[in-house]
Amino acid sequence: MELPYTEPYKIKVVEPVRRSSRNEREKWIAEAGYSLFQLRSDQVFIDLLTDSGTGALSHHQWAEMMLGDESYAGSTSYFKLKEVINNWLDMPYFVPTHQGRAAENLLFSALIKEGDLVPGNAHFDTTKGHIEFRRAFAVDCTIDEAGNTTLLHPFKGNIDLNKLETVFKNNPKEKIPLCIITVTCNTSGGQPVSMQNIRDVSALCKQYGIPVFFDAARFSENAYFIKMREEEFAQHRIKDIVREMYSYVDGATMSSKKDAIVNIGGFLACRDKDLFEKISMYCILYEGYLTYGGLAGRDLAAMAQGLKEGMDFDYLESRIGQVAHLGQQLADYGIPCQIPTGGHAVFVDAKKFLQNVPKEQFQAQTLAIELYLEGGVRGVEIGTLLADRDPVTRKNRYPALELLRLAIPRRTYTNNHMDYVAACLANIYEKRDRITKGFRIVKEAPIMRHFTVQLERI
Ligand code: F0G
Repeated sequence: MELPYTEPYKIKVVEPVRRSSRNEREKWIAEAGYSLFQLRSDQVFIDLLTDSGTGALSHHQWAEMMLGDESYAGSTSYFKLKEVINNWLDMPYFVPTHQGRAAENLLFSALIKEGDLVPGNAHFDTTKGHIEFRRAFAVDCTIDEAGNTTLLHPFKGNIDLNKLETVFKNNPKEKIPLCIITVTCNTSGGQPVSMQNIRDVSALCKQYGIPVFFDAARFSENAYFIKMREEEFAQHRIKDIVREMYSYVDGATMSSKKDAIVNIGGFLACRDKDLFEKISMYCILYEGYLTYGGLAGRDLAAMAQGLKEGMDFDYLESRIGQVAHLGQQLADYGIPCQIPTGGHAVFVDAKKFLQNVPKEQFQAQTLAIELYLEGGVRGVEIGTLLADRDPVTRKNRYPALELLRLAIPRRTYTNNHMDYVAACLANIYEKRDRITKGFRIVKEAPIMRHFTVQLERI
């Protein structure tokens, strides 16, 4: 018999989580204005709000934290991180940052001006936010297949080369400061980008003289999918796949809270010395001196160690296997999800799930609230609330996909927890026809409303 995968670790420290009653949860969620962000974490039983900064450190990482060097300049912990970024990712220059969006801020401060276009594959919200804040435009060039949740495609994060070339052909080079490839692509469902697509995008960008950067938050999960789904790489080590991926880009912004398995941290890496010098100025201005970039020495040390652990095949197999396990359970219950399951999360198709709730009443948010009430599980809406209003007409924007994201923290929950989550959703799925009403907005912020929105039941 073929042996199943198991976690390549055992558990040394546990953190109790408290169950609650449905009555308690009814009260708490009403007090929170039906916003899952407004709940206290001790009102949540299983927290799948995000996989960002919520993973469990290894004992090697804790040991590195004890060795953390808190010197203001030239900390030995910085040099440990430098060793990994220079040698494993083959990036000659970098600055640490306090998290991913800070790296975006530094890079875009150096590169983007008003009216510019930044093509890429479904930019993450903060990436888009930083682009739009500079009155520039994020142009989504993701392949159309990504928008069809029922279609099986191995690389739904891929960039459509025709869409990309159209942007290049119709605009002067000076207006396109960079192209961004997000690996894996969070917005399209944690979906990977193939090595072939990275090669092709890189070649096209080179032809038009446009720099290309990774949004690298989940780069090792992407490398795992390349190994499993792209025949050429079946025998390659993850480390070699990663090196090849980075060889095609001019740099990367990184949220280390994902694939470097730390609670806080990020970095910005690049190949060009002039760009590095420009970025360095912004780093000192916004983040801190170049060898700590807004982080404690111990954070740098944990990040260096976490980056290496994140590229371990056995770890990736169990991590992505756990996400796939939840995806498979939901599929077995007949629950509609984005397929294939992504690297860090399962995305439930709320439009198909709650067909009797009108879209004006926020289907994915309604499902997220139902899931919390059913079992104290917290997911996050990726739908109309997140899409905000049109800046000109102020009308709600209704995105093609209305999703409930269940993001799995790394090394944190067991498959029993996943089974519990699946059972909660199955119970709701059984009574879905009777769920006919959603929510209306009572109060919202002008942009990025989904963090603070207040709702009431219809
Ligand atoms: N890029 C991607 C693809 C992300 O998923 C995130 C964060 C960022 C950049 C920003 O990084 O949070 O360190 O500033 N994603 C989290 C999430 C918040 O829940 O998906 P950050």
